[in-house]
Amino acid sequence: VKVYIPRDSASLACGADEVAAKLLAECTARDLPVSVVRNGSRGLFWLEPLVEVATPLGRIAYGPVTAADVPGLLEAGMLSGAEHPLRLGLTERIPYLAMQERLTFARMGVTDPLAIADYEELDGFAGLRRAATLTPEAIVEEVTRSGLRGRGGAAFPAGIKWKTVQNAAGSQKYIVCNADEGDSGTFSDRMTMEGDPFMLIEGMAIAALAVGATQGYVYIRSEYPHAISTMREAIRLAEAAGFLGDDVAGSGRSFRLFVRKAAGAYVCGEETALLESIEGRRGVVRAKPPLPALHGLFGQPTVINNVITFASVPLVLARGADFYRDYGVGRSRGTLPIQLGGNIKYGGLVEKAFGVTLRELIYQFGGGTRSGRPVKAVQVGGPLGAYVPESQWDVPLDYEAYAAVGAVVGHGGIVVHDDTADMSQLARYAMEFCALESCGKCTPCRIGSTRGVEVIDRIAAAGESGAVEQQVTLLRSLCDTMLNGSLCAMGGMTPYPVLSALNHYPSDFGIVETAVS
Ligand code: NAI
Ligand code: SF4
Repeated sequence: VKVYIPRDSASLACGADEVAAKLLAECTARDLPVSVVRNGSRGLFWLEPLVEVATPLGRIAYGPVTAADVPGLLEAGMLSGAEHPLRLGLTERIPYLAMQERLTFARMGVTDPLAIADYEELDGFAGLRRAATLTPEAIVEEVTRSGLRGRGGAAFPAGIKWKTVQNAAGSQKYIVCNADEGDSGTFSDRMTMEGDPFMLIEGMAIAALAVGATQGYVYIRSEYPHAISTMREAIRLAEAAGFLGDDVAGSGRSFRLFVRKAAGAYVCGEETALLESIEGRRGVVRAKPPLPALHGLFGQPTVINNVITFASVPLVLARGADFYRDYGVGRSRGTLPIQLGGNIKYGGLVEKAFGVTLRELIYQFGGGTRSGRPVKAVQVGGPLGAYVPESQWDVPLDYEAYAAVGAVVGHGGIVVHDDTADMSQLARYAMEFCALESCGKCTPCRIGSTRGVEVIDRIAAAGESGAVEQQVTLLRSLCDTMLNGSLCAMGGMTPYPVLSALNHYPSDFGIVETAVS
């Protein structure tokens, strides 16, 4: 009997290794034939460790399972999918999963992430095999037509970026994957690298064929040790299987991939600081232009994309641009792996086509707050994203629709706060975070963030006295300077959480609203 126990860090943190060890020991003692597969996580984190048993009917899930539950589960007949209070039924039919549109995450949690034969069996490398038969121009055309935009947060069209690199003159071109996933509440990059690493490798190899790059780097944050080791092993296996190396998928072209462990700084997720870091220097932002597409790693033309951008490409090549662009709304095509976190009952990974609303995500998927209290604010798009109030929870998740209400989709991280949240303190935290993580290159960010903390402290100290108004004016002016005068998104976006907190929750700042008759 095949039993699946995840090896994703979230599952390991919840005791998956102990469950696996206990299951093997108990099955040996009872002489029960069992083979344990360590799969990736399905992304239903409140159910981790989620144990699945392969039965003739399909995979039956049990969760959350602790090592202490194992003897009872075996006695109840778990190996034949029998009833038990922890039994969740067929995994595919768990509503949280069944309601999703898993395209990029279709294989997530299904296989052993390092079983390359399983990957191929589930359509893996089909996109790369097709790309190997196409001209570079045709590959870029397919990616452009799919409507895929950068999933790191900026949403720049991937095909246009690739075209720029393709057309650039350079003796050596590079593919760089930004896997320095630093946004609070985000984990889709980590899940991809730990749970379906060949998909990322395949996407990067397709990019290499498209632009004529022969070397690539995956820059992974140091806080992700499991992702680093899984990616290293997956690269070795892909090279041995002929999908990397001197003759990529029979194309006659060469592409070698390396992992670089990041330096532990948020700003190294900014593309030019990331390049500095790979080159061995301090992670300081470079002024743009020149764009990395023309003058990137070691001064050469470079494609830099986020993990999920590359991971979306194999499907585009395998199923065609039209298949992918049929999902989504407006100019936001395809799907987004959304990450639900914070004070939420059912935290996890939800992949949906663009157009889903926050209300659906918070309640239909997330089940409201974990504390059981009303939701007050939702931060979308990481620590530099705006706090979205209830009046905007029906806005479709779409880059343009969000921009129109002063919010950002970013990397799809959603952090929920209940009604005990003090929005002025969350605004202060945004400024403090910027002060701590600023690379120091430009004044609005380096100095402005520290002054921002001080001004918010003065607002809090002023209570309901008249001094609040003066300090709020100062805070708005400071935000304006940071927004318009910062060199990169670190200083330039810190005003988003600050101003959204101020605009939507003024009473938390001691601002007494006068009734409008
Ligand atoms: P950006 O708008 O400056 O650039 C977007 C991308 O397009 C860059 O790779 C840039 O080099 C490229 N590009 C622009 N014009 C081009 C052209 N004509 N040809 C080829 N390439 C071109 O945005 P930036 O600063 O790279 O990213 C900001 C975003 O990062 C924010 O929106 C934020 O949501 C996100 N972010 C994500 C984090 C994460 O952990 N994933 C952390 C912090 C911020
Ligand atoms: Fe550095 Fe901040 Fe300026 Fe970005 S905005 S370059 S992080 S000082």
